[in-house]
Amino acid sequence: MRTEEHRPVRLSEYRPPDWLVETVDLDFKLHPTQTPVRATLKVKPNPAAGAPAPLVLDGDELSLISVKIDGQLLPTDRFTATPERLTIAQPPNRPFTLEIETLVDPKGNTQLSGLYQSSGNYCTQCEAEGFRRITYYPDRPDVMAVYTTRIEADKAEAPVLLSNGNLKESGDLPGGKHFAVWHDPWPKPAYLFALVGGRLGHIEDKFVTKSGRNVTLRIYVEPGKENRAGYAMDSLKRSMRWDEEAFGREYDLDIFMVVAVSDFNMGAMENKGLNVFNDKYVLATSTTATDSDYVSIEAIIAHEYFHNWTGNRITCRDWFQLCLKEGFTVYRDQEFTSDQRSRVVTRIGDVRALRTHQFVEDAGPLAHPVRPELYREINNFYTTTVYEKGAEVVRMIHTMLGPALFRQGTDLYFERHDGEAATVEQFVICFADASGRDFGQFMRWYSQAGTPEIVATGTYDAGAKTYRLDLAQVTPPTPSQPTKEPMVIPLVTGLIGRDGRDLPLKLDNGTTIDRGLLVLDKPAQSFVFTGINERPALSTNRNFSAPIKLTANLAPDDLRLMAAHDSDPFNRWQAVQTLATQLLVGNVARIRAGQDPEVDEGLLDALAIIMADKKLEPAFVAETLLPPSEADIAREIGRDVDPDAIFRSRAALRALMGLHLNKALSSAYETLANRGPYSPDAVSAGHRTLRNVCLDLLAATQESHAIGLAARQYQQADNMTDRMAALATLSLHDVPERAAALDDFYQRYKDDPLIIDKWFVLQAATPDPKTLDRVKALTSHPAFSMKNPNRVRSLIGAFAQGNQTQFNRPDGQGYEFIADTILTLDPANPQLASRMSTAFKSWRALEAGRRGRAQAALKRIADKSGLSRDVSDIVQRALADT
Ligand code: TRP
Ligand code: ZN
Repeated sequence: MRTEEHRPVRLSEYRPPDWLVETVDLDFKLHPTQTPVRATLKVKPNPAAGAPAPLVLDGDELSLISVKIDGQLLPTDRFTATPERLTIAQPPNRPFTLEIETLVDPKGNTQLSGLYQSSGNYCTQCEAEGFRRITYYPDRPDVMAVYTTRIEADKAEAPVLLSNGNLKESGDLPGGKHFAVWHDPWPKPAYLFALVGGRLGHIEDKFVTKSGRNVTLRIYVEPGKENRAGYAMDSLKRSMRWDEEAFGREYDLDIFMVVAVSDFNMGAMENKGLNVFNDKYVLATSTTATDSDYVSIEAIIAHEYFHNWTGNRITCRDWFQLCLKEGFTVYRDQEFTSDQRSRVVTRIGDVRALRTHQFVEDAGPLAHPVRPELYREINNFYTTTVYEKGAEVVRMIHTMLGPALFRQGTDLYFERHDGEAATVEQFVICFADASGRDFGQFMRWYSQAGTPEIVATGTYDAGAKTYRLDLAQVTPPTPSQPTKEPMVIPLVTGLIGRDGRDLPLKLDNGTTIDRGLLVLDKPAQSFVFTGINERPALSTNRNFSAPIKLTANLAPDDLRLMAAHDSDPFNRWQAVQTLATQLLVGNVARIRAGQDPEVDEGLLDALAIIMADKKLEPAFVAETLLPPSEADIAREIGRDVDPDAIFRSRAALRALMGLHLNKALSSAYETLANRGPYSPDAVSAGHRTLRNVCLDLLAATQESHAIGLAARQYQQADNMTDRMAALATLSLHDVPERAAALDDFYQRYKDDPLIIDKWFVLQAATPDPKTLDRVKALTSHPAFSMKNPNRVRSLIGAFAQGNQTQFNRPDGQGYEFIADTILTLDPANPQLASRMSTAFKSWRALEAGRRGRAQAALKRIADKSGLSRDVSDIVQRALADT
């Protein structure tokens, strides 16, 4: 545990490093509990830093063996070493060689940060501050060095030895040992270092870059699972080609490796030339993975690969700039997915996730800017705000500039900053320089937290044939930001005539609106459109051009017109969502007042029209049939939230859809039946998605025929997508078929942890008062382990983050269980415990009873002594009175 009190780190206190490192030579002798690490650094004073300074190196739980300067053992009175720091008060005021020997314990490293063991294999995780758990080092991203890594190991224990860069040398040694030497010619920060050693199988392929470089591609997996790595390899090759075409970026080493490990705190890590992945995002066959698993694998392979330029070649000056690499790289992987699959369906999925996770984060006590200005624990800032809102900010730059200028801006960025540790300002200035536009006010997207709320009011003047659009914006207060300045909000807008066609947009000052783009940058602004012969429907924020909450004075018939005809397919979907949200929110109030939920014939008609529109792709139709999430409805309501009423409101709508659209749903279910062998492509997946949504809505009526269909689909499915979908539908109903299918599923897949995770998720997410006891019982199941993050997230994470009614049980038992879990996890794996504690991010919006119980659980966590910095940072912020 950390002993020192750490003061927060502030962006305003950034100082360049006093010392730079030119080269790092690492020497590992892998041993399960005692691995000696020798680090030889060529250090030199930083000319940009001024006066001679002490050399202060970071550490974390380190034990030092020796320090040498220029080959001479340093006497103990010349330095001080604690587990957290190595200080040489008076180093030579010139370049010198520093040799440090430490001893680390991979097996005892349960935090999964630094050098650790996973299923007996050695691996590392160094972002953000894990390298300091391997050796003392200036562990900050603006110190970039060239690494050479020699690994020695028992050949039987670790036949495969990998690190960053290219393999220089390898061979056998006496005593059953062997070694490998890797050299990475590209200077990099320590967080991109990686080492892997163990028994691994692999598949191999090759890629020729557009300038003719031959690249060997390898994906390493647990032996015997090689046949599950094919889709990841295919995704990798498509990513490499796409980055050449879309951004002009080529790969820069002779080999690119991906290693799948089963114990991993996050999704994956972009270490230079040696990406390390959670095996969940590598392994897939049609019978082990679902369509959405395939989508995730493709996106995460792309994401980590794209980091090679956005993150590695150009890295971050400091961790406040995290969105520089993450926001941009998420934007890039979203664009990749859009080009590989359906653009609008991808956008809908991304916006749905943004609303359910980021908007909710932004509305609660953990809200923070895309670029925070202060942190206590950087690991707690790998958030949906930094990643997904960060991507939206890049997307807005693209929207405002258009594709050609945007590309000129990124070209300039890559040319200007290659090899550097850059800032967000430097990134944005490239777009300003490429376009001649001013992005000064736009920078507020990086500094102001909270979701801007825009009110759009349209007024039609039949006499003057004008349409006046009044726009107003407000960004609500967030922790430590009570007042906000106006934002720059790009609103792609259309006016739709009654025949469903877009009207030409001409302003009263004579200008035509290019690409429909209106930019709101004041608290309030008006636009008057002329030559409008009938009252139009306002379609704005098309394609979700800004990450805002929009309230427009649209009549229900405007929304139905848009659902049927909007030329912007995103807003066709949005119109249905808006109708559904209005109904759901209204019904929550009715249910709480003891009344019956209302029916909205208009919504059902809109859905019927969409289902009948044969020009629409099935995956899009499926999206229109999915109402907003419970978390999103709760955020929409904002205060005094009753999760049970939200659940009932949503369940009532789903049942109603199943009833009213019964014919269309049944016939879609029949006609979309599987033909031919499984293929993970987007079109085939779209057919399955729609068919399974139809099944789920049919079953939402509780009709026994529909339950029978689900049970039959479960049994007869020849792929995991259809089997899981049927099981998920059954899991929502208290019928004997549910227990039978769950038992069958366990028996079929009990030897496959990643599939059993799906079994955990479904049971934990069941909206049933018996779920909590079931989840508690499953923590003793032989397939469960508190040590494996995937197991913990599947069972306990799915309960806390994915089961609104049961986590928020009125008796508070859900909160108590999660608090207990956090306290159990914290000493072993604070990053995992801390993630779990973000489940409380919306506690303040709850109705009084639940709010009190959630607060009590949070306080119980906060009061525990010896809490990690990770968890204490989250619970302190969650409890703070802003
Ligand atoms: N940089 C990684 C990504 O976005 C994520 C990451 C950050 C990570 N810290 C981590 C992964 C710690 C695993 C463990 O792709
Ligand atoms: Zn990333």
